[in-house]
Amino acid sequence: MHTRKNQRNLTAEEKRRLVGALLELKRSGQYDEFVRMHDAFYVPDGQNRPRAAHMTPSFFPWHRRYLLEFERALQRIDPDVTVPYWDWTADRAPGASLWADDFLGGTGRFGDRQVMTGPFAYRNGNWRITSRITDGKYLTRDLGRPSDPVHLPTAGEVRRALADPVYDTAPWDSTARTGFRNSIEGWSAGGEERWRNHNRVHRWVGGLMLGATSPNDPVFWLHHAFIDLLWDRWQRAHPRSGYLPRTPPAGSDPQAGRVFALHDPLPPWEVRPAELLDHSRVYRYV
Ligand code: CU
Ligand code: CU
Repeated sequence: MHTRKNQRNLTAEEKRRLVGALLELKRSGQYDEFVRMHDAFYVPDGQNRPRAAHMTPSFFPWHRRYLLEFERALQRIDPDVTVPYWDWTADRAPGASLWADDFLGGTGRFGDRQVMTGPFAYRNGNWRITSRITDGKYLTRDLGRPSDPVHLPTAGEVRRALADPVYDTAPWDSTARTGFRNSIEGWSAGGEERWRNHNRVHRWVGGLMLGATSPNDPVFWLHHAFIDLLWDRWQRAHPRSGYLPRTPPAGSDPQAGRVFALHDPLPPWEVRPAELLDHSRVYRYV
């Protein structure tokens, strides 16, 4: 059993050790394997094949297991390190301690959006991007996108998503109009509104956080730890609700074979959503 903390409460020593483990994971090549795994599972719902990770009911369990694998890899380097969470409803400014030189570094510079400060700045020699669609070798960000401002989701927006007692609903994709899963994952009809809650945070950070290789930015893990915590909050608020769909969509349903029901093994670990509903024996949030 280990504890995941709010990143704002980490001591200088805890930040130093987390950064050290991240840099060592990068140096060993394992970090980039995690990035490639995320890229491989980035299957949009326009494609007629199974979707385990995004635009799908198993968005929460898939990312729970993915974070746990990543955290175990960090812990093989430093057993005391855990993945902290970033509560972006509270820590909303580009000047927050999260973005300081001793932690994740700050926003990108004007022009190429290259991050110039902190341990993950390319110029500091330890963070070279190897898997992305375009050519740059450096981490990019555009916090808050000052040229056309976007805002982080508010506590009220999160509260409204948590109030939905139904976990997910047909058609089990990015067009589901209601349900906790898509309200948090954050897909909706076009334009800037297409980016709500979870998606909006990727948008607000900008740069590499926008695409399928978003784990290239270490803030990915802190963001998704908070998403994982929100799943806990929803479960506590609705103890009689549960993961849906309970059984696979019928053969005539266009989503048959494309989404994962409660007892369908999720790739690549072949673990069922039912096995990922309760993490209380593995880790807890404080
Ligand atoms: Cu993802
Ligand atoms: Cu995400």
